[in-house]
Amino acid sequence: MPRFSFSCIMLGFLISLGNTAAQPSCEVDPESWSKAALQRSLSTPLGLPPIPHPADNPPTRAKIELGRKLFFDRRLSINRTMSCAMCHVPEQGFTNWELSTAIGVEGRSIKRNSPSILNVGYLSTLFHDGRDPSLETQFIGPLTARNEMANPSAGHVVSLLNSLLEYKPLFEDAFGAHASLDRIGMALGAYQRSVMAGNSPFDQWHFGGNEAAVSDAAKRGYEIFTGKGGCSGCHLIEEEYALFTDDQFHDTGYGQMRENERQNPPSSIPVQVAPGVVHQMDFSKVLSVSIKREADLGRYEVTEVPLDRWKFRTPTLRNLTVTPPYMHDGHFSTLTEVIRFYDQGGSGLPGQDPRIHPLKLTGTERTDLETFLRSLTSPDLDCLTAEARVEQPDNY
Ligand code: HEC
Ligand code: HEC
Repeated sequence: MPRFSFSCIMLGFLISLGNTAAQPSCEVDPESWSKAALQRSLSTPLGLPPIPHPADNPPTRAKIELGRKLFFDRRLSINRTMSCAMCHVPEQGFTNWELSTAIGVEGRSIKRNSPSILNVGYLSTLFHDGRDPSLETQFIGPLTARNEMANPSAGHVVSLLNSLLEYKPLFEDAFGAHASLDRIGMALGAYQRSVMAGNSPFDQWHFGGNEAAVSDAAKRGYEIFTGKGGCSGCHLIEEEYALFTDDQFHDTGYGQMRENERQNPPSSIPVQVAPGVVHQMDFSKVLSVSIKREADLGRYEVTEVPLDRWKFRTPTLRNLTVTPPYMHDGHFSTLTEVIRFYDQGGSGLPGQDPRIHPLKLTGTERTDLETFLRSLTSPDLDCLTAEARVEQPDNY
């Protein structure tokens, strides 16, 4: 009997552990979450500057609520299966971990990796090639691209929203008017600008003066990032905040390297057939069942200026631990691979930015640099995810 009661206690203990684990780590109040989101988007989190809200689209609770609903609504795609949030998944850092390049409706491929929505409100150029300047207009791209949500036209989405009764009061509350293309953009803009995440251990140390917030390795990594590595020349750290991007376009040597690999594929490639089970397979066989990778000329596709070939926008490095895989086509799955690429001096192909050159880092220096990059993740991500999922998608 003592054994029995002991196992009962153990069972109770395990159940209570299980319950604790199942608890969401952040409670979000369905009544007041948008108040908190609005306050956040008007605040200045540690390490970040104030969000530049457009003068003609100041954020309000009603716009943020409407924007969140639109972001999660699968009816906004041609066959009513795909929402914005399916490529920008809150639980996956508002990007997509499984896919190096995104996949739209009916399995159609996109040549680029989904960027994170975290801190997107700070960017003055959107997309890897910077082809759109504003969140108020950017959304028309995915809504109408044939390989994303594939709507026949933007007007089609506006009339759909005007036909859905549940949206009528939401547009009325936010704008005192019915759905229009401009108003959809304003709501999505206000919502996405509220998805901010600063206050990382690095911020707490560097801007907050808390010496204990990061390890000595991360501090040494910071010295490499701003010194020997030359990383902060493009991934900027300012006096009072750090966006880790200069919002400019550069040829890191990566785009051209990937194009060379595309044109000269290896005879065989490793294919993961089950978790941890990798087979080396004949490349022609793999190609026969997959879509041929498209060329990607980066910024050139926007400007048609030859010097812009292979240039891509400098991405922020905040929250990298939750936004793999990396680079515009998601070919690097780990930060170790990215650091190895920079350490070897990029691809060294003509046109590469001279700031990317062999760094000759020691093993410890590479690990320290990675530890520093890992210290840029905000502790607020669970709360942002819980907030994004505050209501079930209302489209079933
Ligand atoms: C099929 C997957 C997919 C869907 C659906 C999708 N996106 Fe994206 N999104 C991407 C990809 C891929 C990119 C990068 C494309 C490029 O650079 O050419 C991107 C880029 C963006 C960017 C720019 C981010 C940056 O760092 O520049 C924003 C903002 C964005 N998407 C918001 C949205 C919104 C809002 C919707 C819904 C209306 C949406 N996305 C639907 C895959 C998707
Ligand atoms: C000349 C400017 C420049 C310098 C210097 C530079 N980067 Fe970058 N970095 C970029 C650009 C541009 C990209 C995007 C490349 C692409 O997607 O093809 C990028 C991408 C990255 C990424 C991938 C981020 C993501 O979300 O996909 C990481 C990580 C990174 N850089 C870290 C570093 C580190 C560490 C250093 C220093 C060793 C460094 N960078 C130096 C411009 C630069």
